Amino acid sequence: MTSRIEQLKQDNAQYLWHPMAHPKAMQKTKPDIIVRGEGCWVWDVDGHKMIDGVAGLWSSNLGHSNKPVRDAIVAQLDELPFYNTFRGTSHPRAIELSARIVKMMAADDVASVMFSNGGSDAVEGALKMARQYWKVKGQPERSKFISLRQGYHGVHYGGMSVNGLGNIRRAYEPLLPGCFHVDTPWAYHNPYTEDPIELGKICANLLEREIQFQGADTVAAFIAEPIQGSGGVIVPPPNYWPLVREVCDRHNVLLIADEVVTGFGRSGALFGTRLWGVKADIWCLAKGISSGYVPLGATAFGSKVAEAFLADTTGQATVAHGYTYSGHPVAAAAALATMDEIEKHDVAGNAARVGAHMQQRLAEFERKFGIVGDVRGRGLMTGIEMVSDKARRTPMPRGSDVPQRVAREAYQRGAMVRISGPNMILSPPLVMTLEEVDHLVDILEASFAAVDKAL
Ligand SMILES: Cc1ncc(COP(=O)(O)O)c(C=O)c1O
Repeated sequence: MTSRIEQLKQDNAQYLWHPMAHPKAMQKTKPDIIVRGEGCWVWDVDGHKMIDGVAGLWSSNLGHSNKPVRDAIVAQLDELPFYNTFRGTSHPRAIELSARIVKMMAADDVASVMFSNGGSDAVEGALKMARQYWKVKGQPERSKFISLRQGYHGVHYGGMSVNGLGNIRRAYEPLLPGCFHVDTPWAYHNPYTEDPIELGKICANLLEREIQFQGADTVAAFIAEPIQGSGGVIVPPPNYWPLVREVCDRHNVLLIADEVVTGFGRSGALFGTRLWGVKADIWCLAKGISSGYVPLGATAFGSKVAEAFLADTTGQATVAHGYTYSGHPVAAAAALATMDEIEKHDVAGNAARVGAHMQQRLAEFERKFGIVGDVRGRGLMTGIEMVSDKARRTPMPRGSDVPQRVAREAYQRGAMVRISGPNMILSPPLVMTLEEVDHLVDILEASFAAVDKAL
């Protein structure tokens, strides 16, 4: 007789299509079925316990068993499981959460917020509102978007069109017209310079040249992640974002910060833009906003953008956008409790402290292992790039099984990690302790050593 566990695996292969995977892939490689989580630990369906180096997917920032968040969700289910927030209707949790986020982001000059269901939604809202902003301002020809290569902005048509990862664009072309890409200030892979400050200047200049080439009066916004996450955890030089802000100001182009990953503490600052001392005009938020307990996205607007919409008397600024579940009460309740926890436990501070230790230990891998080319990150987000030729910085080629082999070694030793192309991406819960991080790094060290030795 087929066991329940085997049945689950078989049904998964037969019925469930996974994001970013061939529909047949799970027939050959069974997925890791995760059944339980507690703190920074998860268990798979076979009872195997692992330290969580992924936090669900950059999202379970408070770990998996946060009682206040859980209690807030349950209380909300008892009080009001759902109501909408379309024109003329509202409910307390969405109102409270909007006020809370605006207060939390007062230093960033945020004035208002619009809710949705996740990161792709948050980006879609940002792009649409940026275009509408220029219509409201009487410059409807400002409709183009510029973004960075290697950037990831989700999977809706707008976000996909500004994405800088070729492999997730091709199947769905043609994409949105009017989207253009410029080079990322990527210290490890760039044709320009080894000097990071010089690189920051060059890449900000590339943005300016692209704006000028397109015609500044046709560009609505530049969108980027304060630290690129899915593209391989690419940390820009410290002068890049301040220079980008200057370029955007010079040409009157809106700056959209996609903080879906970096928002709410992951980089060690509460928001990634704060790392660089920059205020955006529009922010995309999700994941850590509700610590992944219930799906939620938000698009936040700086006062310049908000005031333009509020000043409109023609009706042109009516928000013709929104979802049935915009500001879902259960998600909003989870987010409010998440905000309490973030502030009470100084989660961003922990990410900075524990993250610095993690980065320092992982950086030694570059020296220790021939397959590790570059370790980069900030706070509790790290990319470990695997290479086939260290001297030439050649990333492990597509089709190489080396990255997955390292991940499997880690899994067997009790650590959940994620592979994306040649990179191992680490994004543990932000409440992880020093001891837990050491445990994770010890396992990774043994895993890289095992594969390095076998090659
Ligand atoms: C920077 C960034 N933007 C947008 C998204 C899309 O978010 P979601 O998967 O919740 O739609 C992601 C997802 O990882 C992301 O990393």
